[in-house]
Amino acid sequence: MRARLFLWVAGLAALGLAVPAAAQKDATLALTPPMGWNSWNHYGCNIDEKLIKATADALVSSGLRDAGYTYVNLDDCWHGARDAAGNIQPDPVRFPSGMKALGDYLHQRGLKFGIYSDAGATTCAGRPGSQGHEFQDAAQYARWGVDYVKYDWCATGTGPAQRNPREAYATMSRAIAASGRPMVLSICEWGENQPWLWGKDVGHLWRTTGDIINCWDCTIDHGSWQSSGILPILDRQVAIRGHSGPGGWNDPDMMEVGNLASDRENRSHFALWAMLSAPLIIGTDVPGMSGQVRDILANPRIIAIGQDALGISAYPWIRTPGFEIWAKPLADGAWAIALLNRGDEPQRYTLKWTDYELKDDLKGRRADFARETYTIENSWDGEPTGTTATPLEVQVEPHDTLVFRLAPVTG
Ligand code: GLA
Repeated sequence: MRARLFLWVAGLAALGLAVPAAAQKDATLALTPPMGWNSWNHYGCNIDEKLIKATADALVSSGLRDAGYTYVNLDDCWHGARDAAGNIQPDPVRFPSGMKALGDYLHQRGLKFGIYSDAGATTCAGRPGSQGHEFQDAAQYARWGVDYVKYDWCATGTGPAQRNPREAYATMSRAIAASGRPMVLSICEWGENQPWLWGKDVGHLWRTTGDIINCWDCTIDHGSWQSSGILPILDRQVAIRGHSGPGGWNDPDMMEVGNLASDRENRSHFALWAMLSAPLIIGTDVPGMSGQVRDILANPRIIAIGQDALGISAYPWIRTPGFEIWAKPLADGAWAIALLNRGDEPQRYTLKWTDYELKDDLKGRRADFARETYTIENSWDGEPTGTTATPLEVQVEPHDTLVFRLAPVTG
């Protein structure tokens, strides 16, 4: 019997299907895409407890916490050295009050505490990684009150000597389970090992792509890896959209909303990430953000699209050069439609609904406008905008995105 079980498990492993930690992940977390803030995009390594507390206070006073942004995530460079027993400690100069005190500060304000580590010997910025210390680190995080762990992939070896990513992430998943404290596990191996095929067994979200940067349509080659702006990352989500859903999300990276060249770009980026059901992790200077950026991030109708319970990632429905209409099925028979102007000239567009049908083959959702009528609401300002019985005439400014919610007319 035992030999047969072994063969069965070995067979599954050979097929790449067996991940022993499958039952370990907390399946009650991240049923909608996580929302919060992370330090990396704006501050890089330059973080300390004063900044984290000021950001937490600004999330509360700006209303962003109440809009849903509850995770406050420290990225790389919070680390000091390990103590004599091997326990990880924060940088004593940057975090003199310690991590338990910081976690308490966040929890007292109705926020959650996120931290960063790495599956290799060091993090990407050269701080201590968790390899060989996974259970000890997860236990330490639990003592500090951590609710979210982003787990990076630097210094994990190269070629045949590289760590097995499934094994590495499963080990941290088991370590979190053993700590007894529920924590979201954010897999950050940049999409290199098709994490959309196995990430859901061990974690709650997985990066699909290399690092985001604050440009509209650029890609920077760093030799062994690339970073990209909004449009190249967007385009790479289409083929894998079917792998994202409640409890396990494709993660096109933390947002650059507030860091882009214009509010049109900020608006588009936010709308598109919501359309993708992406995690909505703010990556800007929250205490210093403009009122416009705050209003984009806090828009309740766009957030509702991103947090829709079905968690279906959008697909490009109509594509013309430089102009696209993306569609996302929502709960209760509704749809979200995003009209994206990728180019540098204003675009006028008349959408004669009755010439089209919305059809999401992946999830079997359809809307035939010749047979059914939908009401249209402008998601940016909440204004009713007629129905699909009459054509929608719009002008979309360069790099901007209009969003509409369609709801079936019943009765
Ligand atoms: C990698 C990750 C980034 C960030 C940095 C920190 O590049 O992909 O998101 O965490 O490391 O060093």
